[in-house]
Amino acid sequence: MALNGKRVLLIIGGGIAAYKSLELIREITKRGGSVRAILTKAGAEFVTSLSVASLSGEKVFTDLFSLTDEAEMGHIELSRSADLVVVAPATADILAKMAQGLANDLASTALLATDKRVLVAPAMNVRMWQHAATQRNLATLKADGILFVGPDDGAMACGEFGPGRMAEPVAIADAIEAAFAPVSRVLEGRHVLVTSGPTHEPIDPVRYIANRSSGKQGHAIAAAAARAGAKVTLVSGPVSIPHPVGVTVISVETADEMLRAVQHALPADIAVFCAAVADWRVAAQSGDKLKKSEAGPPALSLTPNPDILSTIGHLSANRPSLIVGFAAETSNVIDYARGKLDKKACDLIVANDVGGDSGIMGGDMNTVHIVSKDAVDSWPKLSKTEVAERLIALLATKFAKASR
Ligand code: PMT
Repeated sequence: MALNGKRVLLIIGGGIAAYKSLELIREITKRGGSVRAILTKAGAEFVTSLSVASLSGEKVFTDLFSLTDEAEMGHIELSRSADLVVVAPATADILAKMAQGLANDLASTALLATDKRVLVAPAMNVRMWQHAATQRNLATLKADGILFVGPDDGAMACGEFGPGRMAEPVAIADAIEAAFAPVSRVLEGRHVLVTSGPTHEPIDPVRYIANRSSGKQGHAIAAAAARAGAKVTLVSGPVSIPHPVGVTVISVETADEMLRAVQHALPADIAVFCAAVADWRVAAQSGDKLKKSEAGPPALSLTPNPDILSTIGHLSANRPSLIVGFAAETSNVIDYARGKLDKKACDLIVANDVGGDSGIMGGDMNTVHIVSKDAVDSWPKLSKTEVAERLIALLATKFAKASR
């Protein structure tokens, strides 16, 4: 079991998502880990100490000034006896305290006193998440090396819609596993090129054609390749997620710009084309904002964009040894993926069904099929981080075999 013997200190903040922390305890223990929990005063409004203790099989800590708790285990010891500290749900208040280094209750004191890595699963109202103060705190915490999982987009308990829902327990448990995963630098000395995110194809100076790609999957692949020791070039369309640390980022807007950036970044040993590139652009962009007129809406004439994957796949010189395309389909996923493997001259296709309510575009989870010339390997639903880790491990093995 992946978390065998690992001790997690789980801090449960106050929010409706606290109920999911009970499922998280189950998920961690199912994977072989153990959980000791701190339940904040606000958290205790949503779940009881009794349920947390029953599921974790451990005493639950709530009070900074409890003589009994201090006698049994001081709060410093509590924060250090774990292998990883996880905050789920992490409210805007907890994030603010962490960013400021405040220590005025047991949870914030433990977070300030710990010498272990901290993984945070934010959960809050969408406006609170988007508020400049929260985003500033987030940037501070990321710079401090705090790990994050989520939040997800979706309908919120308060009736609003957007980012702020706590990541699902399975995704948090995957992130816990990833935090413990030994860093094996299997791609040391290799150059990995990754495309990520959507492209924006201008209609006029204020409008564009785009798609729902968030860049989460491509960025996770770039981050995983960097953790594996590779030199990574990430060519990214316009995204609102932070770029991974330790990679060279080239930000582009259109498919044309993405193609030029990719060509400029060659040579590369491995190239992964995860970007959702627009297949068409407007044939004649207007230099001025299109105006409403009595004649009705303007007719937009489209022209094909260059196919970046196919262009690189068919190179006779400078072709990366291993080229991976993605296929975003809404039906006949495997068949279409096979077609793309052939047509775009790549070595592997990662196919995902982005149809209906799959939530893959923009979400934190993905279900992929690895399609090669003679096999299809279907992976279970995983967090995008986990898909990225597995994909990079697979590519490292294939690359090593091919270079023997
Ligand atoms: O960004 P996220 O929100 O995390 O979502 C991830 C994702 C769903 C975008 C990702 O997993 C994914 O499926 N990416 C590929 C999206 C896509 O454009 O698929 P496609 O089937 O249209 O294209 C096939 C392949 O050709 C892709 O590798 C694509 O990058 C490439 N392509 C497509 C068109 C084009 N003009 N140039 C290209 O290089």
